[in-house]
Amino acid sequence: MQIYKYKDYNEVSKAAAAFVIREIVKKPNLILGLATGTSPIGLYQNLIKAYNDGIISFKEVRTFNLDEYVGIDKFHPQSYHSFMHKYLFDHIDIPPQNINIPSNDLKNMEQLAKEYNDKMFGNQRDLQILGIGKNGHIGFNEPGSRLGNMTFIVKLDDQTRIDNSRFFDSLEEVPHYAITMGIKNIMFSKKIILIASGEAKADAIFEMVYGDVGGQYPASILQLHPDVTIMIDEAAASRLEMTSNYLTF
Ligand code: F6R
Repeated sequence: MQIYKYKDYNEVSKAAAAFVIREIVKKPNLILGLATGTSPIGLYQNLIKAYNDGIISFKEVRTFNLDEYVGIDKFHPQSYHSFMHKYLFDHIDIPPQNINIPSNDLKNMEQLAKEYNDKMFGNQRDLQILGIGKNGHIGFNEPGSRLGNMTFIVKLDDQTRIDNSRFFDSLEEVPHYAITMGIKNIMFSKKIILIASGEAKADAIFEMVYGDVGGQYPASILQLHPDVTIMIDEAAASRLEMTSNYLTF
């Protein structure tokens, strides 16, 4: 685990984008795992800038999103399908057939989860981008999720629904279920980059780095992955024992 500390969200976003850009330059047909939420928005803005500046192209990049809400239409403004188009896909040259987002069609969820899973196993991600929930979730692998899970339907934690209600008009509108890559899918990625900022993430970051693996903070499993880079701001790093801006284990 390599941990880099930056001043604030903007610095984290720039550094994380530089990391992703390097990977795309090295391998133009990168298979990239994507996250939604507030954490990667700045990173995506910097990727769009690099695309506009002619530094990278997404023509050959293939993407797999971590998760999607169940129970709202894919065109609902708060679906992760809409999020990805708004914050990234509509601004770059990625061919639509290269984009994979878990389908949330209620009719055949188990089958869809299996299909998403099978597709990922045939396309091992070179790099997975992650955020982290206040409760230590990655993807929507909530506390108590099995470490051996592959893509599955999850009942969202109360904390997660409260945290995400900021995007909806009311807490009642936040879906209760989601489809998510399991921990096993996430761990199957060759490289992982996790970004976080703000005081509210400090406990989750502390438990991810020093906590018991598995336990109540699913992100702690990342201690066992061979190639994880954590990029966080000072507030999110406030509980780590860092004497410089870099820490490695
Ligand atoms: C999103 C996802 C979640 C978020 C996490 C942090 O696709 O899988 O794990 O990364 O909830 O969300 P933000 O960045 O909004 O604090």
